Amino acid sequence: MKICYVYAHPEPKSFNGALKDTALVALKEKGHEVKLSDLYAMKFDPVLKASDFPERKNSEVFNPFFEAIKASKTGAFAPDIREEMEKVKWADLLIFQFPIYFTSMPAIMKGWIDRVLAPGFGFNPVTNSAYDTGLFKEKSSMLVTTTGAPKEMYSEGGVHGDLNKHLEAITHCIFEYMGMKVLPSYIIYEASSISKEKGAEEFEKYKQRLLGLGADVV
Ligand SMILES: Cc1cc2nc3c(=O)[nH]c(=O)nc-3n(C[C@H](O)[C@H](O)[C@H](O)COP(=O)(O)O)c2cc1C
Repeated sequence: MKICYVYAHPEPKSFNGALKDTALVALKEKGHEVKLSDLYAMKFDPVLKASDFPERKNSEVFNPFFEAIKASKTGAFAPDIREEMEKVKWADLLIFQFPIYFTSMPAIMKGWIDRVLAPGFGFNPVTNSAYDTGLFKEKSSMLVTTTGAPKEMYSEGGVHGDLNKHLEAITHCIFEYMGMKVLPSYIIYEASSISKEKGAEEFEKYKQRLLGLGADVV
């Protein structure tokens, strides 16, 4: 399987860093091909801007939506966006791994989504290409995330509410919107205060989840 692994954590020696390293070894061991986008290490620029579109449709007023729709037809995006788009086009499965920041993904990853999964690329409201007719129907996606808070706080009836519900802003409104099949999110709660022993158990469990990838992917 071809996997694009989009990863966002600013510290390689973190729990997330070790989790990502575990994943890369496991996926390669299983014979999958993996392309990594390590966003902080790449210093990926998350800022959507006029220079993302070298062949502007309207050079007077910058309308990112219409510029993206037009650029998607010609491929005229900035080189850093084009490079990431090639990984997405190539992949059968997109895995997004990140620590929860304010109940969502870190801003650098949201910026990657804004710039790379651009209007016209994964979806196109102008041609009604979304959900069942989304442009990424041949792809699957999965979120892998860690929290500081315990599971009880992020459960239904807990102070924050069910984390899976919050993540629907990504899994449903972005990935399913683009036609992708969404695999269940893989969540490790209380990662910031995890013991070495429990951490090692979590790495093993995650490894087994990844080794089991197969029939559940489109
Ligand atoms: C800016 C910021 C915002 C955070 N927001 C949340 C949050 O909303 N909920 C939560 O459970 N943890 C939150 N955390 C804690 C991180 O999710 C937690 O430290 C991380 O998942 C632990 O993994 P790590 O050791 O690899 O960093 C936040 C941390 C930072 C730096």
